[in-house]
Amino acid sequence: MDKLVINGGKRLEGTVSVSGSKNATLPVAVAASILGDGASVINNVPDLRDVETLRSVLEVLGATTKFKDSTLHIAPRNEIVYEAPYDLVRKMRASIYVLGPLLARLGRAKVSFPGGCAIGPRPIDLHIKGLEQLGARIEIKGGYIYAQTDRLIGADMDLSGVHGPSVGATANVMMAATLAEGTTRIRNAAREPHVSDLAKFLNAMGAEIEGIGTSELKIHGVKQLLGTEYSIVPDDIEAGTFMVAGAITGGDVFVKNALQANLEAVSATLSEAGVQLDWKENGVRVTTPRHLNAIELSTEPFPGFPTDMQAQMTGLLSLVSGTSVVNEAIHTDRFMHVAELNRMGADIRVRGNRATVRGVPKLSGAPIMASDLRAGAVLVLAGMAAEGETVVSRVYHIDRGYERIEEKLTGIGADIARIDE
Ligand code: UD1
Repeated sequence: MDKLVINGGKRLEGTVSVSGSKNATLPVAVAASILGDGASVINNVPDLRDVETLRSVLEVLGATTKFKDSTLHIAPRNEIVYEAPYDLVRKMRASIYVLGPLLARLGRAKVSFPGGCAIGPRPIDLHIKGLEQLGARIEIKGGYIYAQTDRLIGADMDLSGVHGPSVGATANVMMAATLAEGTTRIRNAAREPHVSDLAKFLNAMGAEIEGIGTSELKIHGVKQLLGTEYSIVPDDIEAGTFMVAGAITGGDVFVKNALQANLEAVSATLSEAGVQLDWKENGVRVTTPRHLNAIELSTEPFPGFPTDMQAQMTGLLSLVSGTSVVNEAIHTDRFMHVAELNRMGADIRVRGNRATVRGVPKLSGAPIMASDLRAGAVLVLAGMAAEGETVVSRVYHIDRGYERIEEKLTGIGADIARIDE
């Protein structure tokens, strides 16, 4: 298993490029494989473990895929399999994205019920509610979701849950509704950049989706979607992670391909802490004054501050003098990174879904363990800021969502080596 060995204390300087969005690539690849007739060519696809895992799911269900130089070629096969077994789904929760498309295409689906994960229980009641409103009959039995329909019919629905709109449910229902009869209206739809990117891809395939980027989507069902060529939006979370990398090392970094429109809340939060941001058309320059300010922040659905940036921001705040408060309102148990940061000398206490972060003057390198994707990312950030050597194990969590993280960061002055043990 790989480890990252980080020699901390290096100031980052230079340009780092953002790859395509992981969370957009996953549903786009599902839509291309199951909903489309004819081949699709998807550009700007990141080379990630999650994309590999999804390809293996899609190969089993009904597509031939080829991935080279950031381009994913998808050729759907004539015969699509309606069952996504446990062995595939357990490797990646996002496999649940096949449920809506299989139902729309075949009139039936059998998909393993996804489990929880390191960041909490992660229910799928909203996915099921939305698909039932389109006319699916759904039963949960023996760890599987069985869904069936004679014909999906457009419906009016509200997809808001206790923690706000759901990205996954919005995407799943939207994909199913593209081939339903009549019009579907989703109120309280998620507006995350990757949901909008999926909607744009579906429209490029011939779908008729209105209201993209708003909380009310209108989907007019069509008879057929066709393969197309598309380029994935840059990854806002990878971009945000590099912005924090610049800030936490006191660096001067240009984050190329970062899109301002998708990073307003992250920018506002970093600016409030005192980080200097200079937005250009093709990215953002991040410079950091000597003193930053403690702040209070709460995660929210887009356009609010993303939960997927909470760990990284908590890491930065651990080194800012004064007391910061971080509320996690989406995945309320998502504080696995705190114990590891505290092992490096941070002073963070968690009560319920709130972390109180008392800034310390320095972190010191230590052996630490990634427990999930973003909790892993913050450990790399903390390791770069810490004095001495940090060894991050369970790097496979980080590889799920960051393309060649050590190469990209080494390119702007970090001292990180990957070792295979
Ligand atoms: C997606 C992202 C993940 C991100 C999350 C929130 C992908 C592959 N993953 O996950 O990185 O952290 O959005 O931005 O895109 N909920 C319910 N019932 C449901 C579905 C969700 O109660 O049926 C709750 C969840 O527990 C959570 C909140 O709604 O509290 C948001 O979850 P959701 O937006 O669905 O997250 P995912 O799509 O799983």
